[in-house]
Amino acid sequence: MRRILLFILPILIIVALVFTIFGIVQVNFEENRLMDDLQRKAKTVAESAELSARYILINNDLRQANRLVESFQKRERLQGCVIYDNDGNVLSVTDRISEWSKKDKPYLKEVLNTKNPRGALEKFKEYSVYSYVLPVLDDEKNVLGVVEVIYDTSYVFTTLTELWRHISIALIILVVSITLIMALLQRRIFILPVLQLTEWFHLFQKGETDKQHPITKEKGEFGKLASEVEQIALSLRIARKTISDKAQVRLQKEELWTEAKLKDLVLAKMGENALYVVSNREPYMHVIEDTSGEARCIRPASGVVTAIDPILRACGGTWIAHGSGNADRKFVNSKNKLAVPPEDNRYILKRVWMTKEEEQGYYYGFSNEGLWPLCHITHTRPIFRESDWQMYKKVNQKFADAILEELPAKNPFVFIQDYHFTLLPKMIKEKQPNATIALFWHIPWPNPEIFATCPYQKEILDGMLDSDLIGFHVQFHCNNFLDTANRFLESRVDTEKFSIVRAGKETFVRAFPISVDGYMGEDVERCSAEIEKLSKEFELYNKIVAVGVERIDYTKGLVERMYAVDRFLEKYPQYKGKFVLIQLAAPSRTHIKRYHDLMGEIDEVVEKVNWKHSDGNWKPIIYLKKHFSPEEIKPYYALADVCIVSSLHDGMNLVAKEYVISNKKLDGVLILSRFTGAARELTDAIQINPYSIEEFADAIKFAMEMPVEERKRRMESMRKIVTENNVYRWAGNVITELTALKKG
Ligand code: G6P
Repeated sequence: MRRILLFILPILIIVALVFTIFGIVQVNFEENRLMDDLQRKAKTVAESAELSARYILINNDLRQANRLVESFQKRERLQGCVIYDNDGNVLSVTDRISEWSKKDKPYLKEVLNTKNPRGALEKFKEYSVYSYVLPVLDDEKNVLGVVEVIYDTSYVFTTLTELWRHISIALIILVVSITLIMALLQRRIFILPVLQLTEWFHLFQKGETDKQHPITKEKGEFGKLASEVEQIALSLRIARKTISDKAQVRLQKEELWTEAKLKDLVLAKMGENALYVVSNREPYMHVIEDTSGEARCIRPASGVVTAIDPILRACGGTWIAHGSGNADRKFVNSKNKLAVPPEDNRYILKRVWMTKEEEQGYYYGFSNEGLWPLCHITHTRPIFRESDWQMYKKVNQKFADAILEELPAKNPFVFIQDYHFTLLPKMIKEKQPNATIALFWHIPWPNPEIFATCPYQKEILDGMLDSDLIGFHVQFHCNNFLDTANRFLESRVDTEKFSIVRAGKETFVRAFPISVDGYMGEDVERCSAEIEKLSKEFELYNKIVAVGVERIDYTKGLVERMYAVDRFLEKYPQYKGKFVLIQLAAPSRTHIKRYHDLMGEIDEVVEKVNWKHSDGNWKPIIYLKKHFSPEEIKPYYALADVCIVSSLHDGMNLVAKEYVISNKKLDGVLILSRFTGAARELTDAIQINPYSIEEFADAIKFAMEMPVEERKRRMESMRKIVTENNVYRWAGNVITELTALKKG
């Protein structure tokens, strides 16, 4: 709009200026013409009265004089007539202007002296009138008296005002027409070709058109620009194809799954930047720091972020997530996108905004007070509110719209994360049936009896089953899901192929145990300075250190862990002063009462256990309640002799795998709840039932006393499992399965 104005405004100013000058000239001309006309008329009338006036003045015939002046009474625009004697005294005046006699008329003297007629504008009451004064002479040229004719001039001003009105209307019509014509021309000549070119570039980029752009055939400047753009688009396409072919060759050579191997797989199977990931939690969040008031970028504590970020870093693509940081809006472009990681741009993050009401209903309400406790067996009752469900549907639609805006028209791959988006597959497929969709469920799936308590069971399953592939961490959760679909929907479950067929559409259900990237161990070795700093700060020299890293969530068994430490010290007091548990705890979902209460409960238990066992400077639990970045967590893993994961129920649990991969020295021990997905793979961990405080306390003792050789053997075997089954392999398996479906 500003550009159009800049373009049109100078033209309009010139037009208005020319028109105004023309108007002034025209009005002046008209004014002169009308005044001339008036003067002529006044003169004619005065001259026609002169003869009668001469007779009247010679004979001093007052009756005749009155008759003459009254004969002017009915003349149009003529106000009246006055007859004066040769001293300038009024003899007779038309009734209508009888007041005229009282007016001071210095010009009469001049006319009597010079004997010349005079015409001029005069003021009468509030008006302006035209007076024409004619001396009446006898045959010897002596002055007998004077005849004065008075004309109304208001019609001159009315005519001129009318003229100005017409000129102004014409000017307005001209300005509006010019503006419209210019705007249309500008759109036709400049904007449309640019829009067409942008649209074409967009489609060509996505591979949705192979046609040449029509403007490239033009000779002018636009033609040149278009052919440059076309060249770039073509080069990009060729470069992509070459990279993808090379990737295919490399892929066949590599054994262990690495970042590079995954990248090659994605390039070979999908092409560059072809992955579209959706999750609720964003991988990079901008927040205002309380102390400095400055914005900084943090990595949220989330298993989804830990697992998916390395994949997108490797392959590029677009990640669509809720922009939940309080400074997030400052860092996006006009399309709500930014390149991440901020220091090493590898992929695009598109932020979706939510109102407080939407966040409350969809995230805190339905997702985390409804589905989260429904899927975790921790005896926390799920709450299903109709209003939350409505908001959940609305936000799913909002994400669907945000994704659909991004997807290329030809067979895109969409990888949806977690329980926040059960309705998304259906919403995407409705608009883009050729999309291939995988949904990964990062938490457990309950058995059908538990799932039956959800009032929206059918809609949820219906939404999910528009995915082509649904992934869970372990086979047990896949089985639960198949049973659930079998029970609640009219569908056919194929237990050979592990798929669900519904209304002619087949959804495959597979277990893909998620993992971490294998590089973490390398970094841990480099944090000796931080380890030294922490050892000094917390006086950890000569202590056996256990570490826990969690969000403050009731599924993580944090209270049980504190009680286990309590029992361990009660049972084995010889460890007093020698053992320390450092618990890193990131506050999470704090607006939910259950989480809020849990924070208080943990504070209380920690305080109680520390008070009970503390001795001098020593206390058994160092409870650090704040958000820790992955970089900040590494030295804790590195200094820990033991890592404790005591979840009451957990889809996988990546902390266990992170600790294993960080323990390059092979001297650590992992205590792991058997209710985690990770327990199925990490069989060399000390597995516990966190509800059994006695067993848990003994497990801590067992870990403390485990001989070096056994630690090494167990850790070596677990590291082998995690290294081989790293997150690149996980993603590779999902993508291979997904692309195989696409071909089928
Ligand atoms: C679990 C879920 C994730 C979630 C994470 C953190 O790991 O599976 O989807 O991101 O918890 O929870 P939050 O609510 O903070 O995203």
